[in-house]
Amino acid sequence: MQTITLANGLVIPAVGTGTNTYGKEGNQYNGELNGDFSALKSAIKAGYRLIDTAISYRNEAGVGTTILESGIPREKFYIITKIPAEDAFIGSKESVEKTVLKSLENLKTDYIDLYLIHQPIEDEEKLKHTWEVLESFVDKGQIKSIGVSNFTMEMLETVHNFARIQPVVNQIQSNPHTWNHELIDYLLKTDVVPIAWGPLSKVTPEQINKLNHIAENYGKNWVQVLLRYQIQRGVVVIPKSHNEEHQITNLKLFDFALTKEDQFLIESL
Ligand SMILES: NC(=O)c1ccc[n+]([C@@H]2O[C@H](COP(=O)([O-])OP(=O)(O)OC[C@H]3O[C@@H](n4cnc5c(N)ncnc54)[C@H](OP(=O)(O)O)[C@@H]3O)[C@@H](O)[C@H]2O)c1
Repeated sequence: MQTITLANGLVIPAVGTGTNTYGKEGNQYNGELNGDFSALKSAIKAGYRLIDTAISYRNEAGVGTTILESGIPREKFYIITKIPAEDAFIGSKESVEKTVLKSLENLKTDYIDLYLIHQPIEDEEKLKHTWEVLESFVDKGQIKSIGVSNFTMEMLETVHNFARIQPVVNQIQSNPHTWNHELIDYLLKTDVVPIAWGPLSKVTPEQINKLNHIAENYGKNWVQVLLRYQIQRGVVVIPKSHNEEHQITNLKLFDFALTKEDQFLIESL
């Protein structure tokens, strides 16, 4: 698996699996938890080691159990989770601390590879104390890297200005409906690795046709060229699938490279 080196020198796999509908009734984000983690099991079997969960997904505990029960050593995995920007979690330093300890317990691990603030925290004091607590967990070795999600350039500047330990990633939406090209350029320039969420979402049939047309030249399909486009420009992708075959094909991204022309065609879809 290709990796990308973060600003703190640690590495992150270029491809991971999303999990936001895993362990839920009807594979629905808001579905009741049903303990069915077969999709995560098949993703791990297919070779995914970066696993992206979040407290809001309500499935940290099931994700933790599935990773543990895989029998694969913990250090082979790269686990991401996220703290919601809600007072119950970030209202005070104590609540942030309690939240991180609960994530460690849920995920059944001594350390979390990457802990993100899930959404912008508008109140600067709360943003600051949340960040300071996350930094203290990095000091203790219980979190390896910290970052943000859905932050704008301005919000990141605010964090840059007070952070003792800088955010190493910003997890944001990026797909043909909402590329976020300008933000991604800024992140790449400032050594903050972008992680594209929803990388396969909101693609129109017309865009799929155009992508398939490009993909033919490489013996690939529309999903593979779309994901390849992102990793080729330094963006980590976390596609999610409940289909074993899709999970396997979505990892076959490292035996071809898009030409400049094809990159441009995809960029301007
Ligand atoms: N930070 C945030 O605010 C935020 C927000 C949203 C999501 N996320 C994270 O990003 C992850 C990915 O986003 P997402 O789950 O919303 O959606 P996604 O990965 O963009 O798309 C998932 C859809 O793509 C389909 N798909 C996957 N591989 C395919 C293939 N090879 N061919 C055809 N269809 C394929 C899946 O269907 P099948 O199951 O049938 O394959 C599923 O319907 C989430 O799971 C979550 O971990 C983060």
